[in-house]
Amino acid sequence: MKILVTGGLGFLGSHICVELLENNDEVVVVDNLFNSKMEVKDKIQEITGKEIKVYIGDCADEILMDKVFLENAIDSVIHCAGLKAVGESVEKPVWYYQTNLGTTLNLLKVMQNHQCKKIIFSSTATVYGVPEKPQVDETFETGKTTNPYATSKYMIERILEDVYVSDKTWSIGILRYFNPIGAHKSGLIGEEPNGIPNNLMPYILKVAKGELPVLSVFGDDYDTPDGTGVRDYIHVVDLAKAHLKAVNKLKEGAGIYKYNLGTGIGYSVLDIIRNFEKVNGIKVNYKIAPRRAGDVAACYSNPAKAEREMGWKAEKNIEDMCKDAWNFAKNK
Ligand code: WQD
Repeated sequence: MKILVTGGLGFLGSHICVELLENNDEVVVVDNLFNSKMEVKDKIQEITGKEIKVYIGDCADEILMDKVFLENAIDSVIHCAGLKAVGESVEKPVWYYQTNLGTTLNLLKVMQNHQCKKIIFSSTATVYGVPEKPQVDETFETGKTTNPYATSKYMIERILEDVYVSDKTWSIGILRYFNPIGAHKSGLIGEEPNGIPNNLMPYILKVAKGELPVLSVFGDDYDTPDGTGVRDYIHVVDLAKAHLKAVNKLKEGAGIYKYNLGTGIGYSVLDIIRNFEKVNGIKVNYKIAPRRAGDVAACYSNPAKAEREMGWKAEKNIEDMCKDAWNFAKNK
């Protein structure tokens, strides 16, 4: 299969490319390098011993995307390109809507023009907003989102539903990621956002390396076991492998499928700090700070549907995630 991965040089995208190549798929990437680096292409090729074709540019660029589909017989698309920081989206909503919606709408238009009707969309657990119970399954209400990032992803889910209603020959996978962390065991690819990290693990890594002085723990007064935010952290390699299962699911036939991708286990911020310190033998300097706008207290998955319908289940534990994250970051 020849698969287009938008944002394919990014944290998740690069891990998906590795898994696809090792599955003997052909991979084409479009990436604007906003939150990634060109050197990741070489790392992907070093890990797999295989070539990938990379187009540098933006998915909102209709001319570029038309060129990609003219030059490559794309079987399906895995759409990872987009902005993804909760706190940042509260400060810059127009940028988030313009980027996340604009890229997706252009991609869908070009796909239609080229009769490519299989897409897997990188959605997020934050579409559940403040869940009525901390453990969410796919039947939970979506749309009462608490930040523009989540709202933009929810809007795209609705767009995809409308695309399917308009043409039921589409095969659409909506994958709601929980909190991806960790890195490939080689230590060659991982999470290295440009600038000051918004997300927990990359921030911990910068503090562990001495590049930032202290981690701010955003609130310890939530209704959780230790008062800090609880999330479902999932190893990025487990998450990448889920995409191969989703590609196969779309091959079964037309339809629209929504899956939670998480471990089903919730860990607090302090749990993550303690696990990271334990497995890596490193102290993480932190302080308690005010809550971050847009955060929910607790959200973790019930991943049973993905296992039932795709035969996918996360295999790696929190120690693997903390160890692999550090194994990547320590040499940077
Ligand atoms: C996790 C916890 C923070 C930073 C993420 C991604 C989003 C989506 C969903 C994939 C929260 C706390 C964080 C810090 C902290 N992923 N925290 N200090 O907000 O759950 O959303 O998962 O689609 O793209 O952003 O992840 O890592 O930002 O926060 O205390 O410096 O860590 O309050 O409880 P979040 P996060």
